[in-house]
Order: sequence, then C-alpha cells, then structure tokens
Amino acid sequence: MAKVTINAKTIEVPDGTNLVRAAEMAGLEIPHYCYHPGLSIAGNCRMCLVDIRAMSTKQPNPLPKLQIGCNTTVQDGMVVESNNPRVIEARQGVLEFLLINHPIDCPICDQAGECKLQEYYMDYGRYHSRFALKEKVDKGKVIPVGPDIMLDQERCILCTRCVRFLEEFTRTFELGIKERGDHSELTLADGKQVDNPYATNIVDICPVGALTSREFRFQARVWYLDATPSICAGCATGCNIDVDLRHERIYRLKPRFNSEVNSFWMCDAGRRTWQRNHGEHRLIGSYVRGGSEFVESDPHEVVSRAADALKSHRRTAVLASAHATMEEGWLAKRIAALCGNGPCVVVSPASSEIPTDDKLISTDRFPNRAGLVALGFTEHTAPPEDVDSILMLRADVVAADEDRWGMFLEDMGETLVVADEIGKTMAYADHVLAAGSHFETDGTYVNRGGRLQLFRTAVAPPGRALAGWQLLAELLARLGGPRYESVDEIFAAMCTEIGLGSGRTHASVATSGVALADWKQGRAAAARSEGAGAQA
Ligand code: SF4
Ligand code: SF4
Ligand code: FES
Repeated sequence: MAKVTINAKTIEVPDGTNLVRAAEMAGLEIPHYCYHPGLSIAGNCRMCLVDIRAMSTKQPNPLPKLQIGCNTTVQDGMVVESNNPRVIEARQGVLEFLLINHPIDCPICDQAGECKLQEYYMDYGRYHSRFALKEKVDKGKVIPVGPDIMLDQERCILCTRCVRFLEEFTRTFELGIKERGDHSELTLADGKQVDNPYATNIVDICPVGALTSREFRFQARVWYLDATPSICAGCATGCNIDVDLRHERIYRLKPRFNSEVNSFWMCDAGRRTWQRNHGEHRLIGSYVRGGSEFVESDPHEVVSRAADALKSHRRTAVLASAHATMEEGWLAKRIAALCGNGPCVVVSPASSEIPTDDKLISTDRFPNRAGLVALGFTEHTAPPEDVDSILMLRADVVAADEDRWGMFLEDMGETLVVADEIGKTMAYADHVLAAGSHFETDGTYVNRGGRLQLFRTAVAPPGRALAGWQLLAELLARLGGPRYESVDEIFAAMCTEIGLGSGRTHASVATSGVALADWKQGRAAAARSEGAGAQA
C-alpha cells in the first residue's frame, strides 16, 4: 500500500494505482478523456495534468513540470495538487485546444447530458473563443462505420479509447487515426466495418458524441432517462446492466461494471434483448380454455381455477425454461411437491448455434440454468413419465419440437402455462397466466460461474400481466401451501431451504452479486465491486 496526499487529503491505496484512480478513491475527480480503467494507458489527451509537490518520502521535492495523472503511479509519501491555479490554467489550455475545431452541435448531439466535453467545459472553459468559426477544420459527419454505429469526425477528440478497445478487447482493429495535427481524424481501416459482437461498447466509452448508436440516436434526451440495475438475460454469463427507461418504456441497455462477471462490457446481442419486451408477441392477459376457445379472465380467477384443476390430478411435473427466476423456480418446485411430488425439469437446450467465446458470450442462451439446477431441477429435453398434469414455466416446448411435445401435452389432464410471450405451447393449455418479463419483476439468477445476481423491476408488466412470483405464490397458497406476500419473503425462505443461510434478503445481495459457494460456506457477500473507475 502507498500513502498519498491529494489536495491535502491523505489516503492509502494499493501499490500500482494511478493518480486518476487514487483521486477517485479519495472522493476527488481528476478530469480525463483518454484514460479508461478497462483499457491500456494512452496519455494523449493531457486533461489529467496534476502538480506533484512531492514524488515520494525518499524524493520529497516537487517536480518542475505538470504530470499526467493517468500515467503516474502512486508512491509512498507522494503529495499531489490537482486543482491549484497552475493546474487549472493548463487544463483550460487543453480544453481550449480540444474545442478549436469542435462543431459545438450540442443541441442535436445524442451525447448531450453525458458528454465529458460539456461537463469539463463548465469547470474549465474559457467561455470566449479566440478562433473564428470559419477557421474551423471541417471533417466528416454522419458516417456509418458499422451496422449499429455512426461516426461524427468533427466531434471526435482523438482520445483513441475506441481504437484501443478494438485492438485490445475484440482484436478486430477496425478503427484508426490518420493524418497529422488538426487534420487528424478517426477513420475505418481499409475494407473494414465496425461489425463485431461487442461493437457498441465503443459508443459507451466514447467520452463525447463522436460515436453514437444507430438504435438509440435521436430517441431520447438522456437526462429524462432513469436507470434501473439489472442483469442481461441474453445468455448464461449474466452481464450486469443498467436499464435506461422513461415512462414505462425501455430505451437502451448499458453495461454496469462488475469485475467478477463482465468488467465494463456487454455484447450487442444482449443489448438488444429489451426489444422483445415491447414486442407484439407479449402476453398481456390470462385465459381459461372454454371448449376450443380461450376466454380471457381475471388472473386471480385463472389461478383459482388452475389450482382446482391441479388438485384433481395425481401428479404434476414442472417444465421450466432456464429463463425462470430463482424465486419462480423455487415456488414451482414447492407447487410440484404439493401435487404428487412430480419431477421438476429444465427443458431449455444447454447449447445453441452461437459458440461460447473467450470473452463474455455463452452458447447457453439462458440466464438461470445453474440456479434452477441448484434448486434441484434436473435437465432433460425429453417429456417426463408418469405424470398427468403440467406446470409449464416460461417454456415454449412445442415451438422447439411440436411432434414430440404436442402428443405428450395432448395426453395431459391439465396444462397450465405461465409465460410472458404468446407461444405455440399455449395451443395445448387449459389455463394460461400472463407473467411479467425479467425487466418487470424483482428477482435473481445464478450465472454460469455460480454467481447469484439480483435484478430490479424496471417497468410494470403490460396489460393485466403480473410478476411471475405473484402468480406462483398465489397458486401455492391456493394449493394449501404457505402464503408469501413479497418477493423478499420468498427469497428468504428459498435461501434457508437450500442452505444459503437464514435471514437473507434481496438487499443483502451485493450489487456485484454473490458467489453461491460463498453464501453456502457462510462467507459474507463481497462489498461493492472495487475498481469501477471513473467513467469510464
Ligand atoms: S470517436 Fe470517441 S472514443 Fe474514438 S477517438 Fe474519437 S473521441 Fe475517442
Ligand atoms: S454476453 Fe450474454 S449476458 Fe452478456 S450481454 Fe451478451 S447476451 Fe447478455
Ligand atoms: S492523458 Fe491522462 S486522461 Fe488523457
């Protein structure tokens, strides 16, 4: 550890920490553009200049020139000033240079509101221009650089974050800087497009509005958006995300830092998973079969009728998709226990045509297989034997294989479907309950690394749909089981029963999640992840 004093505040930080991070740990900000904690140091923007008043205990003399904080590692006894008049004047000079050729099109720029140029200008701007507009160097605007990304070269401050991401993370090398001086510009490599599975991360890390998402641009002003912490349900990795929304509509998903899972990144397929939430196939009402027709009914009435139907049968199996949450899976298992102790089976295929890569993407396109297995579900893709009724939990087995599952379901005395989308399995259902998606409920998943992760309700379920845990808790109570009134009660009971400790609540799951093995062995959840770094 090294003891460092920044602006008269002394803290201890791990050896090797750079000054931008050390300041952040001390609750201070050293402005920066090119530094990103997930990338190598470039040291090109010079925005992070600081005044080192003492290098270390052994070398207590001040350094004559200002130094860049991102490329200066702490030393024991170091004394730093990041906001004295000398530093501020230098920073103003850097910002003035960056703005000489900037188009200042903030009113139509999608980055407005989360732009580091705007932000630092308020603190370090000179507020008058020494350069006439006509002297600005014109560069390209509205350049599609890939299927999902637009480039505005005039807004680019040449920090090379995007270039380094494509060199260091994806190793696809699609972007580079060409020319010299004020004619330098970001450009595509010959014959390339930014078209890789992680491309949109460069939009997130661009500190200005030079790179924008073709999906999100001109859709919303970011200051109107609220962020809800969640987990991507696109595959078994469970990348941590923020759901940005307004007025019950999701606008975008952005990666949320978690050093144990996804670092700063997520894949583009995961980013698009919100679109289904507002798709036309959403199930918004609950139904009872009346002859060959479905009749829409109050969801509580459907639960009641389904409970009566299950009671009149001998043995109920639960067939669950690995999209079901921990809480839903646990309730379904308890329902099966009351209905003849039928088998609980995960029916989702464990692999897909998308191969697991060495970064984040998993071939398993379901977020909670490990969790359901931890609850005691077995994995089969074949119909279970010796059952006469089925609780189908978010699984559309008929869409996967109608020949096999259609015949099986035709023989069932009762098929209850709990789903968030209209599916082919519904054609064989006796009762259908509309459940919210994972964006529409609180819950937990366990990812492929055995990490239990919490997601919160971002938007309300559509129409008359209810959260899956609400429907299943009511069904359990009507079957004679205990009545759970909240998802926290369910979580606590589940944790106690499967040996994760008593008194657990959703609030006790750290924002970075918790390794199931740690909880099982009584180890406390890790505190909030370290190292998130400045915006990155
Ligand atoms: S496009 Fe953005 S991230 Fe890339 S070099 Fe320019 S300012 Fe930096
Ligand atoms: S890697 Fe998987 S969990 Fe992560 S963003 Fe992509 S689909 Fe979602
Ligand atoms: S030089 Fe340090 S952040 Fe750019």
